Amino acid sequence: MSNVHVSNHPLVAHKLSLLRSVDTEPKKFREVVRELAILLTYEATQDLATRQIEVQTPLAKTSGAHLEQKIGLVPILRAGLGMVEGVWELMPSSEVWHIGLYRDERTLRPVEYYNKLPLEPTVSVCLILDPMLATGGSAVATMDVLKRWGAKKIKFVGLIGAPEGIAEVQKHHPDVPIYLAAIDERLNENGYIVPGLGDAGDRQFGTA
Ligand code: URA
Repeated sequence: MSNVHVSNHPLVAHKLSLLRSVDTEPKKFREVVRELAILLTYEATQDLATRQIEVQTPLAKTSGAHLEQKIGLVPILRAGLGMVEGVWELMPSSEVWHIGLYRDERTLRPVEYYNKLPLEPTVSVCLILDPMLATGGSAVATMDVLKRWGAKKIKFVGLIGAPEGIAEVQKHHPDVPIYLAAIDERLNENGYIVPGLGDAGDRQFGTA
């Protein structure tokens, strides 16, 4: 699959197995979501532009790099929230924008209920954060909103993708690269990824 990047890092594989385990409690689950978000964002940001700067070390002057691009983090509520903190620590000058979508359990289609984006885009790269790329409906709807807003560069950072969700994103937004820890087998009849990890929102927030 082009434009889909699945990490083959052993740390990612190890931590993803912890998330999958039904025995992992919410506190540990949140911790691992946070860590995986950092590791995958590291991979997703390899092409960020930098400007050369001069740095004075205690010993000498040397050249360094300064991140040029303003990053926007767009977590898909609610499960994406758990990915924000770690990524924000990594890139503290990022802006965090919330677009509220919920999945209609009958149609499995996303419904927008919250959007406070300013009139003009204020960032040059948007990272959409959502642990589970399941049907792809929320991801595509978020990409639609961000593109209408004027976002030029969008990347999706998730943990597990279903082939159906990846195909949906690629059908509507082939220009958006997808970064994942794993691609699983399929979606079940309730829209859950199998084998997956269950409901990423419930498992983080203790509402299972
Ligand atoms: N959302 C989840 O949290 N888990 C899935 O398996 C699919 C969608």
